[in-house]
Amino acid sequence: MVVPSATSLRVAVTGAAGSLARDIIPGLVARGHEVIGIDRREEVSFSGARWETCSIADRDRVSAIFAGCDAVIHLAGIPLEDDWESILAVNIDGTQAVLEAARRAGVRRVILASSIHAAGFVPVPEPGMTLDDAVPVRPNTFYGVSKAALEALGSLYHDRWGLEVVCVRIASRFARPQDERMLRTWLSPADAVRLFDAALTAPDVGYRVVWGVSANTRGYLSHAGGASIGFEPHDDAEAYAAQVEGRVTAWDERYIGGSFCSPTPPRFEALAGGAR
Ligand SMILES: NC(=O)c1ccc[n+]([C@@H]2O[C@H](COP(=O)([O-])OP(=O)(O)OC[C@H]3O[C@@H](n4cnc5c(N)ncnc54)[C@H](O)[C@@H]3O)[C@@H](O)[C@H]2O)c1
Repeated sequence: MVVPSATSLRVAVTGAAGSLARDIIPGLVARGHEVIGIDRREEVSFSGARWETCSIADRDRVSAIFAGCDAVIHLAGIPLEDDWESILAVNIDGTQAVLEAARRAGVRRVILASSIHAAGFVPVPEPGMTLDDAVPVRPNTFYGVSKAALEALGSLYHDRWGLEVVCVRIASRFARPQDERMLRTWLSPADAVRLFDAALTAPDVGYRVVWGVSANTRGYLSHAGGASIGFEPHDDAEAYAAQVEGRVTAWDERYIGGSFCSPTPPRFEALAGGAR
């Protein structure tokens, strides 16, 4: 049963045709939020959500779409490694464009999709230890650098212009864990909805960085940041342990960013339909 959110908000979601957005938009609508989906790709039909086909690079149009919104969830971007010019244009310049459009439109809060890969070269902690939500950045790719820049831009827009900003360091958001690393880093689709709803509705968030991760038995990412905004994960990757046992690399055991730390990190072009 979906519990309606305590507060119903008008929320613009960039990257609305992407896989994470497809997980969370129906959940946010079900919780009573009014959602405007924005993507440069063709319209995706979400019951109860409005659609705008638009690039985040179109600053004036994005600002006009944001007018009257309480919050923005910024998911648009390249989600894997790519060449520097593309990462710079889409993930870094694009994030500045979204924050600037939000500031111009008078939006109160922006939630930014950061990534575990902003800190990917942080070593896997000793058993029983957890990593703080705001562990300093140690990017493992140009992609990770773009997420470090996203967090820095969010910090600037909070401190200089007063926007409330939550950076969600999403760990591994998949329908189910794909390998042993994800027994530690999995964020379930249902917990992703809970997390973004909490980031939208928590009072007075200021600027903060929180891990996006489920309640995994083997987890090593702190839940303190999530708890500070009222996020209560329900799911545990352990339920899938038997299915992924043995699927592990030396990179997974060494660094929290796993194979993204290898000389051949997963690349965007390799994605089917990864057209720009
Ligand atoms: N999925 C994960 O496990 C994960 C983990 C960490 C971080 N993230 C971040 O979450 C966000 C969403 O990830 P995803 O897995 O849904 O990726 P995705 O590739 O499925 O979705 C990204 C969407 O952004 C859109 N987009 C790209 N450039 C755009 C532009 N200039 N203007 C408008 N729309 C544009 C694409 O068309 C696409 O629909 C990304 O920022 C990604 O880096 C995802």
